[in-house]
Amino acid sequence: MPVWLRQYRWRQSAAAVFVWLPLPPRRATAASIFCTERYLKVSIPPFLFEAVLYAPIDDTNSTAKIEDGNIFFTLYKKEMGMWDSLMIENADKEKLQYLRENAILKAQEKAKEEAEAKKVTKEEHKKYALEATMKLEEAERKRIENLKEQERQKVTRELELWKNEQTYIEGQKRIQREEKLHQEQLKEKKKEKITKPMIPNEGTSKTNEGTSKTTVKPTKGRGSKSIFSENLKEEQLPAPRSAGTIKVNFTSRVFPTALRESRVAEEEEWLHKQAEARRTINADFAELEDLKEEEKNPDWLKDKGNKMFATGNYLAAVNAYNLAVRLNNKLPVLYLNRAACHLKLRNLHKAIEDSSKALELLTPPVPDNESARVKAHLRRGTAFCELELYAEGLQDYEAALKIDPKNSTIEKDAEEIRRIIQGTSQDV
Ligand SMILES: *[C@@H]1O[C@H](CO)[C@@H](O)[C@H](O)[C@H]1NC(C)=O
Ligand SMILES: *[C@@H]1O[C@H](CO)[C@@H](O)[C@H](O)[C@H]1NC(C)=O
Ligand SMILES: *[C@@H]1O[C@H](CO)[C@@H](O)[C@H](O)[C@H]1NC(C)=O
Ligand SMILES: *[C@@H]1O[C@H](CO)[C@@H](O)[C@H](O)[C@H]1NC(C)=O
Repeated sequence: MPVWLRQYRWRQSAAAVFVWLPLPPRRATAASIFCTERYLKVSIPPFLFEAVLYAPIDDTNSTAKIEDGNIFFTLYKKEMGMWDSLMIENADKEKLQYLRENAILKAQEKAKEEAEAKKVTKEEHKKYALEATMKLEEAERKRIENLKEQERQKVTRELELWKNEQTYIEGQKRIQREEKLHQEQLKEKKKEKITKPMIPNEGTSKTNEGTSKTTVKPTKGRGSKSIFSENLKEEQLPAPRSAGTIKVNFTSRVFPTALRESRVAEEEEWLHKQAEARRTINADFAELEDLKEEEKNPDWLKDKGNKMFATGNYLAAVNAYNLAVRLNNKLPVLYLNRAACHLKLRNLHKAIEDSSKALELLTPPVPDNESARVKAHLRRGTAFCELELYAEGLQDYEAALKIDPKNSTIEKDAEEIRRIIQGTSQDV
């Protein structure tokens, strides 16, 4: 049974109530205080103090302090005004019970609300942190892309400069060659002129063909030689050539490999095929406009291409991949599969191009991409070998082997290529 504490003093202003509650003697336990708008309870087992307040107070801002053996409460009134008493007096038991329970209920609700609010704040903080991280990552991604773009532009500029330089050097070389040729021609002429006039000087008439009037003056006899040569100098030395840049246009070349006489027919056939394919694509692309929305999807087109490939319809497969690439040109698998088609169609240069593109998109070389990269190397290697570019082909096979060192098939093929290379170098 609790021991009720009934001793207390109180005072009030219009705004606040002040309560002194004497602490009981010999208390062994700490005091716990429970306070709501209308209810104040102090429990110091076995002692208990309880007050159902006269009017509501602001429980968030009220205080309790221990002072000279008293608990001193400062309770701020919700509404200004003087109270008749601290507690409700003469209230019946039921009303008191109701107020008490209500106070506890309210306190529970409040605690719950506070917990909710805390949770919301926490989640907001979390969300904010996530957004901030995403923003940072986005900024970083943009920065890297910018760097890449700058690097690309720089390389392009350098290449451009290099090309111009090469063109200029070519031009200069040609000028030099021409000048040298000219000088040689001059020397020849000079020789002719030197040797011929020697004959009339022997006393025969100057009617000999080919000699100029100015060069031979019989009166001067043998001394005429020096005059003649001086005259020649004045007459024949050309004015210095003005230097200039000659623009050279290179014949544009579709293929990455050097031109070979023996391959011209094949290349032309290939170009022809390409043009045909392009025509088909254009027809197909008109179709693309009619495709349903879900079919304008690189994955859908890729699957279509794979099916075509499986049925041996390689040209149609190429078309499907072409369309897919137009919708998304960043998927390595499209180039990889198209390279396989080109190999089948013996569009070897195209196969090389597509494999290279796939490899470019499969960087950085993450483990997930290993098998794709092996395939790309093998396809390109095969194309090189079929073009009899065995050294390049071997490089790709070795690259594939580096990724998949345990594959005996690749090892065997690489060995075969090495033998061919050795064979050809011995033939030479
Ligand atoms: C507490 O509330 C009362 C009345 O609302 C106000 O006068 C007083 O400044 C408040 N005190 C604090 C510390 O918030
Ligand atoms: C080189 O190409 C440019 C533009 O393509 C053209 O205007 C110019 O006439 C060409 N020069 C020669 C020598 O073919
Ligand atoms: C290659 O790796 C990237 C992750 O870097 C992954 O998104 C992609 O699906 C991989 N591609 C293949 C073909 O495995
Ligand atoms: C070796 O590589 C080829 C080509 O990628 C592949 O088809 C084959 O399954 C591989 N063999 C082994 C044993 O991994």
